Amino acid sequence: MKIKRNSTCGNLNMKDIGKTVKLSGWVENYRDHGGIIFIDLYDRWGITQIVFDPAVSGKANHEAAGSFRSQYVISVIGEVRKRPEGSENTKLSTGSIEVYAKELEILNESKTPPFEVYYSSVVNEELRLKYRYLDLKNPKLQQAMIFRSDLLNTIRNYFHENDFVEIETPILTKSTPEGARDYLVPSRVNPGNFFALPQSPQLFKQMLMTAGYDKYIQVARCFRDEDLRADRQPEFTQIDLEMSFIDREDVISVTEGLFKEIYGKRLKKDLTLPLPRITYDDAMLKYGCDAPDLRFGLEIVELSDIFQKTELAVFKGALASGGLVRGINLKGLSSQLARKDLDYMTDFVKPLRGKGVAWIRMNDDGPQSPIIKFFTEEESSALYKRMNAETGDVLIFLADKEKIVCSCLSELRKFFAKKCSLYNENDFSLFWVIDFPMFGINDKGKPEVLHHPFTSPKPEDLEKLDGDIYSIKTNAYDIVLNGHEVGGGSIRIHNSDIQRKIFKIIGIDKENAEKQFGYLLEALDFGTPPHGGLALGLDRLVMLLLGLDSIRDVIAFPKTQKAICMLTNAPSEVSADQLEELFIETVSNE
Ligand code: AMO
Ligand code: AMP
Repeated sequence: MKIKRNSTCGNLNMKDIGKTVKLSGWVENYRDHGGIIFIDLYDRWGITQIVFDPAVSGKANHEAAGSFRSQYVISVIGEVRKRPEGSENTKLSTGSIEVYAKELEILNESKTPPFEVYYSSVVNEELRLKYRYLDLKNPKLQQAMIFRSDLLNTIRNYFHENDFVEIETPILTKSTPEGARDYLVPSRVNPGNFFALPQSPQLFKQMLMTAGYDKYIQVARCFRDEDLRADRQPEFTQIDLEMSFIDREDVISVTEGLFKEIYGKRLKKDLTLPLPRITYDDAMLKYGCDAPDLRFGLEIVELSDIFQKTELAVFKGALASGGLVRGINLKGLSSQLARKDLDYMTDFVKPLRGKGVAWIRMNDDGPQSPIIKFFTEEESSALYKRMNAETGDVLIFLADKEKIVCSCLSELRKFFAKKCSLYNENDFSLFWVIDFPMFGINDKGKPEVLHHPFTSPKPEDLEKLDGDIYSIKTNAYDIVLNGHEVGGGSIRIHNSDIQRKIFKIIGIDKENAEKQFGYLLEALDFGTPPHGGLALGLDRLVMLLLGLDSIRDVIAFPKTQKAICMLTNAPSEVSADQLEELFIETVSNE
């Protein structure tokens, strides 16, 4: 490299007129205007227009510029000049100047990229991921990467200033259950044995409390083999923290302080504290899920009591089999919703196991609906009163098992709010969900934990471990941003007997508890202090703070929905020799 830059492609402006500068970067746009060649030269910091005028650059350099193609890498030495009147580009910070090249060095050529790089908008995502090193040049992605880097800096500083110690925990470890499947890594030196990649550093951070570190923080990589969604990746990053001798309020307050710092430093917005809180039970009842979007209303209304004696078969059947009837008043949205939108609801809820959605349109000349003919006078008037029904509203209903009613109405709520633009995309809604139950019921009708099994029941509910376990509440908390869970945590169990009891309830017998978690149970018996903590999903947080829809847009090298890295083609087959060394045989699944 003969020419070493002394400026970037983003920082020259009127005050540099007349200076001789050295720039390096990539060629983007190329225009030949009657013997004078204009190119856009870009780097991480911006774009500068370079002019090759044979009278200034010499014939040879001008000719060389004629051979440039997109993504050629060049350096130039040239003079900064004011652009002629009328040819300024107000969209660029360098838009009032251009650089007249005198000397040129071509550092590398480039094949024609498979898509437009700098200005690329929507192209096939799989193609973008295959050529991610080109895609990452896109200013939108670059902004996300730089925002993420700055955010991480703010977060780290905050915790260091608050006396937290940053400690790294192992990646090759034993299973840490967070509700997903493990990624396993075979051990060559211990044939037939496997490491699990951590689903989170949960148990290590708890043992760091036993070890007396008191305030721990880690930017931790986590791995979960689970079905992917727009806000989930198999490999993601947590801001993981744990504290000793604290209660729920301490963890909440440290986290709120962090969010205040993030809003102030990274968004230039003020955040009013304390954040609102809602209990888990309330969230499920009013919004059908534990991470609702509260930027809009459309609350769910309980209606089962009104229809106890109903003649409407779908309601009657659901109630008779232990289900319930709930609805939402799509307030004032009648004029925005066509009949086909209402009919579409049935298809919409099918993947959620919903059987159908009933509706009533509140017209000027009275209610219109396929179902009201089955309602008595009392039922109708109680219904309208409960739902505050007025002309211009559409009432929608679901009758089914509680889980299905909740998930369908929760999704319908989001669907209509988006369709009818009920909220401003730039608004933020940040709040806590608290008081989670300790146990739910899984598909097999057995108890399962709602957070992880290391969460402590509230002290006053401990005695229920031998009784009505489903009424046990915990000091677990989730923090929710715009309808996504961005973090969660709890006060932990620090007593081995209680820990053993929880394992037993969720079907981990004594022998298995010792086998899987013996080290934890032992640590609890060596002076573990009361402790608790939380983990934030960094990727999700960046996605939401930037108002993006996909977590893949904030991760440099993400995986596809099918957990494949398009760039490297991982996962891929390995050689028979490697497998032999690991004592592994593969079986065909055909
Ligand atoms: P939890 O399982 O709730 O808690 O995870 C914490 C946060 O991590 C994010 N997250 C994900 N982000 C992207 N892709 C995924 N697959 C994914 N899974 C989770 C979410 C979530 O809120 N050990 C506990 C924390 C604790 O109790 O302290 C834990 O991991 O934003
Ligand atoms: P049907 O009697 O099946 O024709 O349904 C009558 C109306 O009730 C239709 O609008 C269906 O979409 C709706 N419906 C069907 N199943 C349910 C259900 N489980 N909950 C609410 N509405 C339903």
